[in-house]
Amino acid sequence: MSSLAPFTKVALRVARQAGVLLQAASRGEIEVADKGVRNLVTNVDRASEALIVRTLLRHFPTHRILAEEGTDAGASPRSRYRWLIDPLDGTTNYTHRFPFYCVSIALEIDDVVQLGVVYDPIRRECFSAEADAGAQLNGRTIAVSSTARLKNSLLVTGFSADIQTNPDNNFDHFTRLSLAAQAVRRTGSAALDLCYVAAGRSDGFWEMNLHPWDTAAGRLIVTEAGGRVSRFSGRPHTLDAPDILATNGQIHPEMVRAFAARKVAGGPRR
Ligand code: IPD
Ligand code: CA
Ligand code: CA
Repeated sequence: MSSLAPFTKVALRVARQAGVLLQAASRGEIEVADKGVRNLVTNVDRASEALIVRTLLRHFPTHRILAEEGTDAGASPRSRYRWLIDPLDGTTNYTHRFPFYCVSIALEIDDVVQLGVVYDPIRRECFSAEADAGAQLNGRTIAVSSTARLKNSLLVTGFSADIQTNPDNNFDHFTRLSLAAQAVRRTGSAALDLCYVAAGRSDGFWEMNLHPWDTAAGRLIVTEAGGRVSRFSGRPHTLDAPDILATNGQIHPEMVRAFAARKVAGGPRR
């Protein structure tokens, strides 16, 4: 049994419990509030977060928490352990009852993500990984695709809530990569998008302006499935970096070159 096993057990269980909560709540009325232009939060995001944080702190009372909706559970500021939680990734989909959203939970130890769990309650798919132990979907090992060329690739991307005001809105990358790849999709859940790269369902994913709770779990799941994760420039991705590129590894250099082409044309640097 790995030393992470006690954490993984709790994370897997609470991710599924939060998924059950999301599904039950979707049958009732969803109270939507705006955090900003196009940036929605619901009573369900908050209820899911409360459930996850309460459960994690019951098991690990000294651990730190970084959760999207800002729950401050008063955990020890000096702990080596920090949980990164997106209690509902894909809130806009959820409010429209578009069936693509998930719960994302990761554990960092000494600033390195060691464990990631992403649960899709609609398909009952649980993606997970522990550092250096491979990635799984419902307990079975998964691996990235073997697509070798960008022109044969299915890519996925996303757009942040501030596209109307932020000039760094991804539209130019979307245009260029739509022409260079076989096709590009936009699904609305960055954590699941990363897991789909890990499972070989897509060949690459990129997005600008994401947050640590969006990427922490999915990023580890991609690399443990044999994929590669970096910034658009090819430099190492850190959790506080807003842009992320995740691929099967094989198309990574072509993708990095596609982003570099924008810099030559005078776009913002990443
Ligand atoms: C959003 C989703 C979406 C991505 C946005 C995120 P939320 O997270 O991951 O796919 O395009 O950038 O903010 O707000 O639904 O948790
Ligand atoms: Ca999110
Ligand atoms: Ca969220």
